[in-house]
Amino acid sequence: MNQQQTITIRRPDDWHVHLRDGAMMRGVLGYTARQFARAIVMPNLSPPVTDVAAAESYRDSILAALPEASTFRPLMTCYLTDDSDPAEVARGFAAGVFTAAKLYPANATTNSAHGVTAIANIMPVLECMQQIGMPLLVHGEVTDHNVDIFDREAVFIDRIMTKLVRDLPGLKVVFEHITTREAAQFVASSSSNIAATITPQHLQINRNAFLAGGLRPHFYCLPVAKREEHRLALRKAAVSGSPKYFLGTDSAPHPRGAKESSCGCAGIFNAPHALESYATVFDEENALDRLEAFASEHGPRFYGLPLNEGTVTLERAEVQVPEVMAIAGGEIVPYHAGQTIGWRMVG
Ligand code: DOR
Ligand code: ZN
Repeated sequence: MNQQQTITIRRPDDWHVHLRDGAMMRGVLGYTARQFARAIVMPNLSPPVTDVAAAESYRDSILAALPEASTFRPLMTCYLTDDSDPAEVARGFAAGVFTAAKLYPANATTNSAHGVTAIANIMPVLECMQQIGMPLLVHGEVTDHNVDIFDREAVFIDRIMTKLVRDLPGLKVVFEHITTREAAQFVASSSSNIAATITPQHLQINRNAFLAGGLRPHFYCLPVAKREEHRLALRKAAVSGSPKYFLGTDSAPHPRGAKESSCGCAGIFNAPHALESYATVFDEENALDRLEAFASEHGPRFYGLPLNEGTVTLERAEVQVPEVMAIAGGEIVPYHAGQTIGWRMVG
């Protein structure tokens, strides 16, 4: 059988990315803007983006860092805290500044110390979001130290998510970067306003990648990659054609030294070859014909935004990923560092 050598799809979007700020943002932005027309930009800066003014200023700094000819558009998010004001969240959404709001359980991950300590504290905000049709993006892990890190997503479904979607049946919810069969099943069996993003790494690696044969911090992200059976369930969900699953890289750059440390940061910098990584997965699953829907259609339809014009083309090619990249005056080790991948974006 002849192998398909190229694939052209409608220009995709990244529904979950960490662009950071300052020099790091200026250094990493181009990798996302090269592939994606839009991206949902995470608000976990220090300090976090909790109000409209901060989001506007962050958005403007991203736009100012783009080359003149770029048509990339950052879609900003509001970082929810126990003190979030429903009126401020609604005002930002109405003004087109906020596209969504992000729920970080307090201390679940990087820069989440200001996150939400109990759902009850943000109930007025969530009720308002339900009413105005504003999506809630959820980092779905409990932070209870008594819960094993590999179980934190599944326990979050039982303790938080199930009740959340029951209490707010009209709220649009994106279960972000799902990592387990339980999460894929939860989303599949929920109503049409519950969706999920899936990262390249959770489709490609299991927990052996960072734990077996040596500790490999560049494969460490949160939620951590789980057992192989979960990776297989995620792949099945991603290529299923269900509109509930869409592309969200969770690209999360950290300086090399912050990851290769006695207490290394969570986050995988996958932006440089994100689309190629997804193409590899869909190719391996004999589902290249479903890549476009996952990458370019399901997300905008869920968010109620127009599909992008224009296309991108990938070709089958051997691409060597560098061991390390010089960015922002320092070094970042990218996802797939030192490996060869089988697809290249050519236009
Ligand atoms: O691995 C992660 N890195 N997971 C997150 O939830 C946050 C992110 C970051 O900001 O570095
Ligand atoms: Zn993230």
